[in-house]
Amino acid sequence: MHDFKFRNGELHGENVKVSTIAKKVGTPFYLYSHNTLVDHFTKIERAFAKVSPIICFAMKSNGNLAVLKTLINIGAGVDIVSIGELRKALLAGADPKKIVFASVGKTEEEIIEAIKAGILFFNVESEPELQEINRIAKKLKTKSKVALRINPDVAAATHEKITTGTLKKKFGIDLRTAHAMMKNRKKYPNIIFAGLHCHIGSQIISKEPFIHAIKRVIEFIDVLKKDGIELEYLDIGGGLGIIYKDEKPQTAQDFADAILPYLEKTGLKIVMEPGRFIVGNAGILVTKVLYLKDNGVKKFLIVDAGMNDLIRPAMYDAYHEIVPVKETTVKKEKLDVVGPICESGDFFAHDRMLSIIKNGELLAIMSAGAYGYVMSSNYNVRGRVPEVMVKGNKFEITKNRETFKDLMRGERIPSFLK
Ligand code: LLP
Repeated sequence: MHDFKFRNGELHGENVKVSTIAKKVGTPFYLYSHNTLVDHFTKIERAFAKVSPIICFAMKSNGNLAVLKTLINIGAGVDIVSIGELRKALLAGADPKKIVFASVGKTEEEIIEAIKAGILFFNVESEPELQEINRIAKKLKTKSKVALRINPDVAAATHEKITTGTLKKKFGIDLRTAHAMMKNRKKYPNIIFAGLHCHIGSQIISKEPFIHAIKRVIEFIDVLKKDGIELEYLDIGGGLGIIYKDEKPQTAQDFADAILPYLEKTGLKIVMEPGRFIVGNAGILVTKVLYLKDNGVKKFLIVDAGMNDLIRPAMYDAYHEIVPVKETTVKKEKLDVVGPICESGDFFAHDRMLSIIKNGELLAIMSAGAYGYVMSSNYNVRGRVPEVMVKGNKFEITKNRETFKDLMRGERIPSFLK
């Protein structure tokens, strides 16, 4: 559940009216609820208490410093995918021993910095990458811990663009190759084969694909055991789905009940990488209505946020609930909610039943905490919007709105054009 609720006809973020925040910071803006973040993290922690997992928040879903700090303060580790994320996680106070690093294309610079930072392990995605980590670890006169990311060839029933666990996708290592890499482990004297990793996709709402994948991984662990290969960690990735519309995803407890027996059987230390489950419903995007346009065929509510601020509808046809920030009795009509960008893909809803609210009034685009701000861009020379966190009665801007000066930083006209 989340802490964006209507009280006295007005949407609140925890105890603060969303309209009060809008007055202070202007629109559009992202708003995150501290309480919701803590609640979601705690739900996973409690559900999996039996195996005391290291819960590495997938910061690709939301890299806001206040969000990171909130989760790190209550014991979260961090799942990173780049040197930028590594630096930001450390800046937020993450314990390097709770950082795992996945990415199909880690560069030399990234590997060096992560080894020096002392991260828990690399999630390795290919044989050449393993050779590279081995080479760099040797150069640094150290040994580096890795978990091989297994591609279990399991289709997760989710959007095509966010399924990862089949061999048609670039992610992970097929079982045959992984087996050969482990058997040839003497070839990698500077590598400690610490574990296996498996992440099959995102926004997965049923437990079956997870169970399927874990069974494959466990079979593989048994094969390795027969070859005398003992592991320390099993990283089960992220991917838990949330409610955007009318999905009925498994709860953290359902998920835990289904997979704990398998996890316990392995006897390995468990690492998890949830992103969306923790932050998805802990954030909203608040936008202002600019115009109503009626072309005789369709009615368009034009708002001040655009696809550059939240690209999920354009990119994945994702559904986000949209609500007026002040409850209204105005009759609902079929509307498109669109942004100001010069693209037909710049929409937040098609043919949605919504009240036509007046210019200047506010709408909240719900469930925007995950893969929202982090995927925003400066398309159309639009500055990124501010991010705000609310905690009880308090709220603060945690990232400023980008100014034109911010956008022009580092850009110049070449001397031969002057
Ligand atoms: N671990 C790995 C290795 C991942 O690739 C991901 C997400 C996660 C963990 C976290 O998954 P989550 O718990 O958040 O489902 N932009 C897309 C989602 C891309 C997911 C990328 N990987 C969207 O907006 O739906």
